[in-house]
Amino acid sequence: MADAPASLSGQDVGSFAYLTIKDRIPLILTKAIDTLHRHKSEFFEKHGEEGIEAEKKAISLLSKLRNELQTDKPIIPLVENYVDTDIWNQYLEYQQSLLRESDRTPSWFYSPWLYVECYMYRRIHEAIIQSPPINDFDVFKESKDQNFFESQEPGITLCTHLQKFRSTIEDLDANQLKTEFFHLLQISLWGNKCDLSLSGGESSSQKTNLINSLEDLEPFILVNDMEHLWSLLSKCKETREKVPIVRVDIVLDNSGFELLTDLVLADFLLSTNLATEIHFYGKCIPWFVSDTTIRDFNWLIEQVRHYDHKWVSKCGVDWENYIKMGRWVYHDHMFWTLPHEYAAMSQVAPDLYAELQKACLILFKGDLNYRKLTGDRKWAFTVPFHQALSGFHPAPLCSLRTLKAEIQVGLQPGQGEQLAASDPNWLITGKYGVIQFDGPL
Ligand code: F6P
Ligand code: MG
Repeated sequence: MADAPASLSGQDVGSFAYLTIKDRIPLILTKAIDTLHRHKSEFFEKHGEEGIEAEKKAISLLSKLRNELQTDKPIIPLVENYVDTDIWNQYLEYQQSLLRESDRTPSWFYSPWLYVECYMYRRIHEAIIQSPPINDFDVFKESKDQNFFESQEPGITLCTHLQKFRSTIEDLDANQLKTEFFHLLQISLWGNKCDLSLSGGESSSQKTNLINSLEDLEPFILVNDMEHLWSLLSKCKETREKVPIVRVDIVLDNSGFELLTDLVLADFLLSTNLATEIHFYGKCIPWFVSDTTIRDFNWLIEQVRHYDHKWVSKCGVDWENYIKMGRWVYHDHMFWTLPHEYAAMSQVAPDLYAELQKACLILFKGDLNYRKLTGDRKWAFTVPFHQALSGFHPAPLCSLRTLKAEIQVGLQPGQGEQLAASDPNWLITGKYGVIQFDGPL
């Protein structure tokens, strides 16, 4: 990208990227190995000796991967033939070409952090698909499901809140609707705190009731463009006669409680007629520990539908109906698990870019999406969001992200410095968030 600053990278000793590659990623690999170990008897019951052999193979491939990483070996091409293998290997060649002049080869610490972190999850997938018959095992499934179960209390409160709200919609004026929209946006934002990659796969579930904490949390929203979202959606609603389909697209992040908050927001948008269709985008392969795959998406809705609580199960029934009626649509696309920044989407995945262009608004959930939106670069804090998107403008878009990586744009002059002085870890703990919009004002 011409004129764009350098990428965050593990070569910056002491940076969060460096610490992630040095400490947190090996921990995630060790956890994945442990998980395979623990499922040994299940593999045996299902597949006999073959299952045991497959488990051994997957573990040895993951151990090899951990060793490559910890000894900063060169990044090697993917070997297993899969839909995206060629694109990954071309990307490696591209990284090699960038380093050619300096006579280096891309290695774990001497490459863009975004690239190697994505590559690590893709290599975990490779280890699994190279180990039939356990080749569709999701090493993170257990912790994702656990995250959902641990957040049951706030989940029940949220579903009950939604259903009670729905029963009063007819009597509400525009201001009351707007207030509710702002509440659910913030809940969806703070739901992003609960991801498992930041905690090395340890539980990071939501235990408290978010609805009552929103006011206290508001000062931690560093950029808050909720008003822009409201006026955009209100305008879209007004033009409904000319454009009968109003689409809000949600690029999902984590499964479990965060996904529940996203589905509640999506339900709100349909039941208030602010949108007529919601399109969701998840990951095709297990990704960054807690990211949502189609299996997680269906599993969560199924759990909600069978929940032994009147309002929760009502949500599940409604959500299944939305899916049946085509008002909720789930999309898979391999682009979301490639290492490319989103500025490259129109070239690498023009079909996906064209799909997103049909939306009236696109919500990008979570930190990794923010890193890919902004190219994971060392932008100054005051650089406008629009500029950091480097030409990625399929439709008006908004990032709902808690800060878990050393990158933030669109701040006021001095704001970043002030935060750093009062809280040196402000960029990486998920304590702060943004609701950051790019589109016509
Ligand atoms: O380093 C923390 C991290 O693993 C980042 O690499 C990544 O951006 C983030 O966690 C994942 O968070 P989220 O689920 O919000 O995208
Ligand atoms: Mg995630």
